[in-house]
Amino acid sequence: MTSTNPFLDSGRQTEFYGDASRLAGRSNALMRAKTSGGPVPETIVGLVRHHHERPNRLGLVLDLGCGRGTSSLTLAQELWPRRVVGLDAAPALIEYARHRARRLPGLPVSFVQGDFHCLPVPAASCDIVVAAFCLYHSPRPQAVVAEIDRALAPGGVAVFVTKGLDSYREMDQLVAAAGLDLRAEQRESLYISVHSGNLAAVAAESLDVLVVEHEEHSFTFDGHDHLAEYLATNPKYDLAPGLYGNAGSLAATLHEVLPDRPLTTKSLVTFVVAQARGGQQ
Ligand SMILES: C[S@@+](CC[C@H](N)C(=O)[O-])C[C@H]1O[C@@H](n2cnc3c(N)ncnc32)[C@H](O)[C@@H]1O
Repeated sequence: MTSTNPFLDSGRQTEFYGDASRLAGRSNALMRAKTSGGPVPETIVGLVRHHHERPNRLGLVLDLGCGRGTSSLTLAQELWPRRVVGLDAAPALIEYARHRARRLPGLPVSFVQGDFHCLPVPAASCDIVVAAFCLYHSPRPQAVVAEIDRALAPGGVAVFVTKGLDSYREMDQLVAAAGLDLRAEQRESLYISVHSGNLAAVAAESLDVLVVEHEEHSFTFDGHDHLAEYLATNPKYDLAPGLYGNAGSLAATLHEVLPDRPLTTKSLVTFVVAQARGGQQ
């Protein structure tokens, strides 16, 4: 299905996730800039420990839209369940996650390619299902939540994570001020499908919501070179040909038009914990 919102355009998924180095470059630039906000995989582990009745004896843990497997590996290392399965639609990311797991022999983790709208697990088979920073790629997130409901075992817990609609708006302002995309501030949020403001309601379509936590994450990019590493692969903007995907050219353009100074920006990160209707079933 095509959409004007790049994150909802299934035809562009290969562009975003067809190469692990693109996601790694983008994530690393953002993590280097982070000045406040906890590490998300560890926060997910903390929520599981707090909300599952027997976190030390977990069976199957499913990590949807696992990307490069960072959360899956943390869940396996911290919780030692019977097995963590990371599921992602992008073959390149699954391959990369498997490569990382091979360097940690004995860890109960594996990775499968699949679509989170149709989970390859029996009903009532998962103690934990995690969906972090991925449901905003679905035009039908309620269908994914219904699948999670089907997959959850009695007493099972789902942890959802997403970002606020106006995340990184200071970047939009800079992109517009630099003349790189004059409409940057008017463009629709990439997180329109599932964001901090509707995550609990989306989860509540099929599940009982136990807790909603918001955490503000702040980022300070050193200057144009650092910012360009992140901006160059941001599909939100309509950049001139040659700039999209090219951090060097983008940084050079920024240096020409704006004084080089740090940029601070924010994103609200929201965690929702939910369980099957009726609690312990
Ligand atoms: C921003 S990454 C998030 C990765 C990881 N969960 C994290 O927290 O870092 C979004 C991931 O969702 C995956 N994805 C998008 N649509 C999907 C679908 N229909 N089924 C499974 N994975 C999907 C993408 O391939 C990508 O790896």
